[in-house]
Amino acid sequence: MELNRRAGKIASSFFEIALYHSGKTSSSQSIKYASILILLGGHPCLPILIGIIGNETSPSCEKRAGPNENHTEPPRLKNRTNLNAFDLRGLNPQYPAPIMKQENATVIEHHNFQGDYRILHFAAPTVGPLVQPGQFLELQVPQLGDRILRRPFSIYKADAESVSILYKPVGRGTESMRLLNVGDAVNIIGPLGNGYPELSEGKTPVLVAGGYGNAALYLKAKELPVQGVAFFGGRSALDILCIDEFKALGWDVRVTTNDGSLGTEGLVTDAFDPWLTEQNTDVELFVCGPNPMLKAMGDRAIEHGFTAWLSLDENMACGVGACLTCVIKRKTADGWEWARCCKDGPIFESREIIWED
Ligand SMILES: Cc1cc2nc3c(=O)[nH]c(=O)nc-3n(C[C@H](O)[C@H](O)[C@H](O)COP(=O)(O)OP(=O)(O)OC[C@H]3O[C@@H](n4cnc5c(N)ncnc54)[C@H](O)[C@@H]3O)c2cc1C
Ligand code: FES
Repeated sequence: MELNRRAGKIASSFFEIALYHSGKTSSSQSIKYASILILLGGHPCLPILIGIIGNETSPSCEKRAGPNENHTEPPRLKNRTNLNAFDLRGLNPQYPAPIMKQENATVIEHHNFQGDYRILHFAAPTVGPLVQPGQFLELQVPQLGDRILRRPFSIYKADAESVSILYKPVGRGTESMRLLNVGDAVNIIGPLGNGYPELSEGKTPVLVAGGYGNAALYLKAKELPVQGVAFFGGRSALDILCIDEFKALGWDVRVTTNDGSLGTEGLVTDAFDPWLTEQNTDVELFVCGPNPMLKAMGDRAIEHGFTAWLSLDENMACGVGACLTCVIKRKTADGWEWARCCKDGPIFESREIIWED
């Protein structure tokens, strides 16, 4: 009976994964669906997915948390900057496995932030202390009922007791999240993903973000030992988030909006390009936003020979590396390989990524 219940949940999850991606037509899509079919045929990662879907902490999942799981100190990514266009051996490092926990987090604050964006603040003493800048969590939307896949959100703020996300309702899951009240319990898994690496010695950090990308960069902005320029872009003034907070941390914030309602009219690259031509310093970019913006910044980094850490925004289903929904092509010394944005990323160096239409 229990087996049937779980099998039904898995089948309905894969159906939801297919629905989730039915609007996409990229050439990697067939691989993604093939991967899902392989999973249905008994991929070893299936127990992890069962645990997540069944809202249980699977033993395999705990095992994947790696040798650091009992340590209080979260694993740190060392910088990976000795890369050059002709030597890809520095790419695809073995990341320390993230410490991933599941927790019933209690909503302690939930309110409008700006425009359509909302802040959701949870008491999360298990996940909170483990968070590194650039990581995300997977949230199980309580009101969704039949739609049981979790939704991924960048961790905007975190401390020993809590985590916050900054989200914009765009569909069924995020619209349902509006209904959450203070005191409600929400199941979260996190922190997930690799997070941004440390700044390389002697480099000047530059932040570039679009829309909710600011949320993913806030903890990095706070952690960096030096403050440089932060380029923020959005459709209109209401999409430019938390600039006062970045300014308060000492960042020189430059804003562009598509409609000119705040800052310079245009794209973030319209502000970045003239600035770059005047620079003598060796810059290192930390970027989060829509994929066309990431690609534009990555192209500039490759052309000018600096490092750019790009946080990819791929649709995700399981969020923990089991379903292969989020794969991208990543360069290796011998050619390329599939990399999972949720587990191997979401942050990749610009030279690692093979962009597809
Ligand atoms: C690593 C990561 C971090 C994220 N961080 C944030 C965040 O901090 N704040 C925030 O508001 N959102 C964030 N997102 C996007 C968020 O996960 C989606 O908006 C959410 O899953 C949509 O769920 P839904 O059920 O409301 O929409 P659905 O009904 O599933 O989809 C509604 C619409 O939203 C689009 N959509 C779904 N997922 C994404 C996505 N990943 N990126 C862009 N569009 C998407 C769909 O294509 C569709 O057009 C993040 C996504 C990822 C992968
Ligand atoms: S979302 Fe399942 S492997 Fe990345």
